[in-house]
Amino acid sequence: MKTTRGNSMKVAKFCGKTADLATLPPGQTEEEDESQKGINKATKGGIVYGEYLQLDKVLTAQVLQSQEKGKKIHDEHLFIVTHQAYELWFKQILWELDSVRHLFIKNHVRDERNMLKVVSRIHRITMIFKLLVEQFAVLETMTALDFFDFREYLSSASGFQSLQFRLLEAKIGVADHLRVPYNRRHYKDSFHGQESKTLLSTEQEPTLLQLVEQWLERTPGLDKDGFNFWGKLQANIEEGLKKEKHKLEKMEDSEVKQDLLADLNKQSEIFTALFDPKRHEHLLSKGERRLSYKALQGALMINFYREEPRFQVPFQLLTSLMEIDTLMTKWRYNHVCMAHRMIGSKAGTGGSSGYHYLRSTVSDRYKVFVDLFNLATFLVPRSWMPKLNPNIHKFPYMAECYDSSYNSYSSEDSD
Ligand code: HEM
Repeated sequence: MKTTRGNSMKVAKFCGKTADLATLPPGQTEEEDESQKGINKATKGGIVYGEYLQLDKVLTAQVLQSQEKGKKIHDEHLFIVTHQAYELWFKQILWELDSVRHLFIKNHVRDERNMLKVVSRIHRITMIFKLLVEQFAVLETMTALDFFDFREYLSSASGFQSLQFRLLEAKIGVADHLRVPYNRRHYKDSFHGQESKTLLSTEQEPTLLQLVEQWLERTPGLDKDGFNFWGKLQANIEEGLKKEKHKLEKMEDSEVKQDLLADLNKQSEIFTALFDPKRHEHLLSKGERRLSYKALQGALMINFYREEPRFQVPFQLLTSLMEIDTLMTKWRYNHVCMAHRMIGSKAGTGGSSGYHYLRSTVSDRYKVFVDLFNLATFLVPRSWMPKLNPNIHKFPYMAECYDSSYNSYSSEDSD
């Protein structure tokens, strides 16, 4: 029998009554109802949703210690799920980070077409971090008192022991010697056995910072016997500053003139330091700069010529790398604010001073791409930038060496 307007599909029964699931549009028969076409493939074999996602493991991993000890505290469930969600996203970040590092390590980036893959994955990492920065808000719906109710059950467990968080920091390139000590000890002392081995072997691998540094050193246009960007920039800046000084000296004596001259002097000092390789080495040794001198030049060049087709994707990469640093700083900041609210100035479950320790980690010491932020100090008027002669200085997109993995879908190269 055909069901038409006014009739309902009577399919399910609740409490003995037949339930109306949907009403058909005017004049439509059941057979004509597009929304109901299809076959339930779950009955045809193959793996289904729960199996594919191994939900039997994931959804049974929320064991409330308070409940185990016979005094179930409602909010401990939220506390566990939040941490697990963070750890899953850390895992995804590590996945993306490893694939990007692999593209650099295997030199696939010498074929510049692969840079889009690098930039997309780094951008994905920034989007995940944005989520992680915001995610604290959910846990903050728990009050300090609610937390106090089950905190004792955490025993000595603490996020400080998160292996994935440490791997993430290490792989991006957080400098070991710049870290804040933890009770005057190194954070690695908290790891043992396989975890400790994993950390040590990760430390032997090149960091994202080092790989980006090597890539920046190859920026086209840095070569002295080619475009010689650095030599030309230095000459232009010196000339520009000289002209500026000349102009100011012609002004009538006034407080404004003195201020402008003082500003110009400061500018000159900044640029004298920029063009002094020894000064760079000194700042490197203090941890105030992280990139090699040549890589810094490459980064500045990309910034200046970001509108050139060949520099657009590299510029996006540099922007996303700064975004990672910014978001990690925001993560640390939001985390410390939450911890402060939950435990005041009590010691952490992991044994640190708690709020005071965490506050000291919200610092530039943990910034990896600090040089990229500082580039803005060295920006000059466009007219001072060395001119590119389009007939001579062509920077077309090209594969420096042809990369056979491009467009290849073998399992090994599928990254
Ligand atoms: C009620 C919520 C939280 C409180 C009160 C809290 C408190 C703390 C404290 C006091 C520390 C310092 C180490 C210690 O002595 O234990 C710490 C470290 C840490 N926590 Fe949390 N935390 C909370 C939530 C989270 C969440 C949701 C995550 C997500 C994974 C997390 C990840 C970390 C990490 C990675 C560290 C190490 C930070 C570093 O050494 O730079 N925490 N936490």
